[in-house]
Amino acid sequence: MNQSTEQSKRAATLREQINLHNQSYYQFDDPQISDAEYDLLLRELQALEEKHPELIRLDSPTHRVGAPPLKIFEEVRHVVPMLSLNNAFSDEELVDFGRKVQEKMGNTSTEYIAEPKLDGLAISLLYKEGVLVQAATRGDGKSGENVTENIRTVHDIPLRLKGDFPVRLEVRGEVFMSKRGFEKLNQQAEEKGEKLFANPRNAAAGSLRQLDSKITARRSLSFYCYGYGEFPEQNLPENQIDLLEKFNQWGLPVSPEVELVHGIDGCIAYYKEMENRRSALAYEIDGVVFKVNNFSSQRLLGSIARAPRWAIARKFPAEEAITTILDIDVQVGRTGAITPVARLAPVFVGGVTVTNATLHNIDEIRRKDVRIGDKVVVRRAGDVIPEVARVLLDKRAPSTRLFNLPAQCPICQSAIEKTEGESVSRCSGGLFCSAQQKEAIKHFSSRKAMDIDGLGSKLVEQLVDEGLIQNIADLYNLQLEPVMALERMGKKSAENLIAGLEKSKQTTLAAFIFALGIRDIGEVTAQTLANHFGSLGAIKAANEEALLETQDVGPIVAKHLITFFQQPHNLEVIDRLQQAGITWDDVIIDSTRELPLQGKTIVLTGTLERFSRDQAKKALQELGAKVSGSVSSKTDYLVAGNNSGSKLDKAAKLNISVLDEDQLSELLLGKP
Ligand code: IVH
Repeated sequence: MNQSTEQSKRAATLREQINLHNQSYYQFDDPQISDAEYDLLLRELQALEEKHPELIRLDSPTHRVGAPPLKIFEEVRHVVPMLSLNNAFSDEELVDFGRKVQEKMGNTSTEYIAEPKLDGLAISLLYKEGVLVQAATRGDGKSGENVTENIRTVHDIPLRLKGDFPVRLEVRGEVFMSKRGFEKLNQQAEEKGEKLFANPRNAAAGSLRQLDSKITARRSLSFYCYGYGEFPEQNLPENQIDLLEKFNQWGLPVSPEVELVHGIDGCIAYYKEMENRRSALAYEIDGVVFKVNNFSSQRLLGSIARAPRWAIARKFPAEEAITTILDIDVQVGRTGAITPVARLAPVFVGGVTVTNATLHNIDEIRRKDVRIGDKVVVRRAGDVIPEVARVLLDKRAPSTRLFNLPAQCPICQSAIEKTEGESVSRCSGGLFCSAQQKEAIKHFSSRKAMDIDGLGSKLVEQLVDEGLIQNIADLYNLQLEPVMALERMGKKSAENLIAGLEKSKQTTLAAFIFALGIRDIGEVTAQTLANHFGSLGAIKAANEEALLETQDVGPIVAKHLITFFQQPHNLEVIDRLQQAGITWDDVIIDSTRELPLQGKTIVLTGTLERFSRDQAKKALQELGAKVSGSVSSKTDYLVAGNNSGSKLDKAAKLNISVLDEDQLSELLLGKP
């Protein structure tokens, strides 16, 4: 063998090995060799290519590490314009879009492809003979910037396609940065004292528009494709879903959240599902996109101005908005925790008008350097309590003021204390503090606890403020007349309250333990304790050793339980509650037999007809099951009601048993 064939063979072997290691590292998170060993392989290939430029191939992994810096980006004209999308901000606007599609198509139920709307930037990739030869940004839709060198460093994007692809094709998709990648990048920037990126979208755009692709190579960018530009007519499949399938076969990544849905009802259900799952996704999405699935229908519908008539983006309400902090107060929680709260100039965010946002604790205030009068970004994601995300420091006025925690509880004047090593400060007043009294009573009466109908939080405040009650046991001594006499209370509401109290007396052991509001005892731990010990007497009597035998109970929780049941005040309240008539059936524990669903993890999805989600969850938990919110390899069963969405697909992929509502009933009745 002469020297040049030997070298070209070595280069090919190195390329293959490096590609495999890239796959293990970037796709499977499972590196097979050390970074140093990897570097050796890469450097050997780089040296070979430097010495013998004829060995350089467009799909060589050496391009992944970046090329010499550019002076400027060249312009690329898009042969097929890169369009934008029309937006729908409500279900009505979506229905309107569906109606127009239907009118034009004349059929009754159109198939749509539902895709997440990735929050990054649109990119066009040109492949010739399966090799990536050019990548461009969208620009103004007619021409964009040539970012080929940078795009080659994005590991999700294949430098060479697999399988049977058209000779020339242009793929379009979104380059974006994962939430984790973004956090890491900002953390590094913070350590170096550099400017932070505002969001993953800006970080992705900033990373891709680097003239030095070696910088891009160090940023963790991802890619999903969702469309095509130049594409030979004869190779185009019938539907968008088939095209995405082809992309996958060619090695181009497609979002696993993509679904085929029927009619606008299907679109609305998908939107709702993604809205719920949004915060759990690894990357940011700002809505979902619906596209008519069939390509000939798409052609018939055509485009107007810069957007197609066959697609629409249903946008989520913005989760962040800018406003001003008017003042900072503190709130006292059920366990005395002091939470500083920013009073804001009203601002519309996450679909509602927000006037308060949590600042968590004093350490957070210092870390974010929040001051009264600051312009801030307020964030409200899903059902999470609105929070002050960050301060716009460059907009800070000289008149802003520092905030300090008060030394005394604003409600009961007891000292505020902070335990070393904890970030939370607490009011030391205990149940002497009326704020803590109120919160304890609100918790006791809440739906998942004693579920007292007719007792909302406003009424609790009124009852405490008027001196009618001080603690949870006092609730059951309430008489009709004094309640009726309260401001804004009629006879009817007072009667409702008394009836609600009466009804709440029949409860379960788990709900009662949860209702007591013992620190760190949530719904699930309360259920576990009830299942494990069977009676309140047994829980009260349990020592640390016995408690630690319970699943999920660690030393801290055990300590809270013991302390709680040692306090005479608490024991007296429990006695009074039982004397007032609160009862439950003790849980029968047969120590020779485990609970039938012990150790099983079950996920509920879709709408059930005979049960509410909460009822089904409670019933399953009573039989020992763990009810979780998302499907994973640890899931034993997925219970799927009507309109179940992507959880079903995930369960199918992971080979998890799916139960319908009848099978759920059988499971609850203990049938095999
Ligand atoms: S399709 C003709 N699909 O949203 C259709 N766009 O607001 C053109 N985007 O420029 C785009 N996810 O950057 C499409 N699944 C998706 C998308 C998506 C994100 C972006 C894309 C586009 C912008 C339009």
